[in-house]
Amino acid sequence: MRATHRSHGGNRDYWRLRWEAIEADGTTLNLARYPGRHAEATLARASGAVLEAGCGPGRVLRYYHGQGRRIVGLDFIEAPLHKLHGVDDTLPLLAGDILQLPFASGVFGCVLAFGLYHNLENGLNDALSETRRVLRHSGVLCASFRADNLQNRILDALSDSDGSSAGTHFHKMNYTEPEIRRCLSAAGFAVTDLEYVQNMPFLHKLALLRHRHDRFDEHSARAKGYQLSTLGEALQRTSMTLWPRHFCNVYVATATAV
Ligand SMILES: C[S@@+](CC[C@H](N)C(=O)[O-])C[C@H]1O[C@@H](n2cnc3c(N)ncnc32)[C@H](O)[C@@H]1O
Repeated sequence: MRATHRSHGGNRDYWRLRWEAIEADGTTLNLARYPGRHAEATLARASGAVLEAGCGPGRVLRYYHGQGRRIVGLDFIEAPLHKLHGVDDTLPLLAGDILQLPFASGVFGCVLAFGLYHNLENGLNDALSETRRVLRHSGVLCASFRADNLQNRILDALSDSDGSSAGTHFHKMNYTEPEIRRCLSAAGFAVTDLEYVQNMPFLHKLALLRHRHDRFDEHSARAKGYQLSTLGEALQRTSMTLWPRHFCNVYVATATAV
């Protein structure tokens, strides 16, 4: 477990500023890439109501809302929730913290939590136990965790992190695969799948390796995925084929509530 620090006002402030700066997501979700591919595969094997914990501006939530299954969005930052209600007031949304979910026990058949748990400086075990509480027996959790690996160490070095906590605030936590498996199991989950996923490659930080139409437009990147140039794609494919554990960004775990 390794903490990343940055020179912003702290994790909650980071999300507040980030989400205040962009509009609600549209209803488009790329099902070939993270997180659309993982949401789609998880929902195919789960039944019952779905909680998207840490829904942010709502790309996953909006795509699945109205497709015949109840999906509720929750986030601890209110700005994106207000924006989402502004574009669609039928969306079931709640402000809340993953550490204390405002739901009765066992009400969900599925929890999707993309990019959520690594925002906790402390309390991953409590957050996973709380997630387990709201899932019914045999319910399914699909969650991504920032990987403690070479890719994220390079990304941190290219960002404004100085690698220490001096003069900086907690940004994200990074986990190894065994740590994730251990925490999920301790919280009452059986891990059925753990995939190495490239979400936001550090290559995207370099103009030469970024797709020429992709100028850090967060909105389009959120809908389509972070797109690379031909050379960037080739480098990414090679590194992910040869060293997926070291060059993924996130580990995506699917687990059943036992
Ligand atoms: C990486 S974003 C992912 C947004 C969305 N799941 C997606 O994939 O587009 C993580 C989200 O988790 C939310 N979050 C972080 N810590 C949280 C907490 N303790 N409780 C609830 N939401 C939290 C952030 O505000 C942010 O919207």
